[in-house]
Amino acid sequence: MSRSGQAGDGAVGRSSIPPDRGALEAQPRWRRDFPVDWSEDDFVSRRDLVKFVVLTSAAFAVGQAWLALKSTVARVKAVYPRQAIAAVGDLPVGGAKTFTYPAGSTPRLLVRTGESSFVAYDQQCTHLQCPVVPAIERGRLHCPCHNGWFDLQTGAPVAGPPSRALPRVLLEVSDDQVYATGVEESPS
Ligand code: FES
Repeated sequence: MSRSGQAGDGAVGRSSIPPDRGALEAQPRWRRDFPVDWSEDDFVSRRDLVKFVVLTSAAFAVGQAWLALKSTVARVKAVYPRQAIAAVGDLPVGGAKTFTYPAGSTPRLLVRTGESSFVAYDQQCTHLQCPVVPAIERGRLHCPCHNGWFDLQTGAPVAGPPSRALPRVLLEVSDDQVYATGVEESPS
């Protein structure tokens, strides 16, 4: 078989020239399905490689865009009946306590971050559910199982394996009481 596209053979493109030089439509099915010469096999491989690289790059770009979009999507809020979870005087600044909210939930962790500021999150790490502990001096929550870290003010993962933020318990402070009023989660 001759290389198509060479001067004099009149062929267009890189398909093979049938031995009888007849029209491709008149060739047996197998030749119509695989109309490329052995000599063009390396060209097909290069073409496939380029296609593979382009598709892989596109898939990577789409994945990155999806992750970026997910991190900007508003968290989903669930509102539950208000529940008192601690008296302000119960916790010193830097102190923490666990509670459940709403009743029967997974354990939540309340942390007093300042004279009048509190934060509360689900205590289960979003990686493999180990309990997180406060690391107030670093402004973070720590998961000792695989050294995962979360921002204390937002619950967002900042280091280690976790990729999702900790569900956050919405709080209200009034009359020296800390109340839980709802739970906010990142869509998974
Ligand atoms: S379970 Fe928390 S980092 Fe793995």
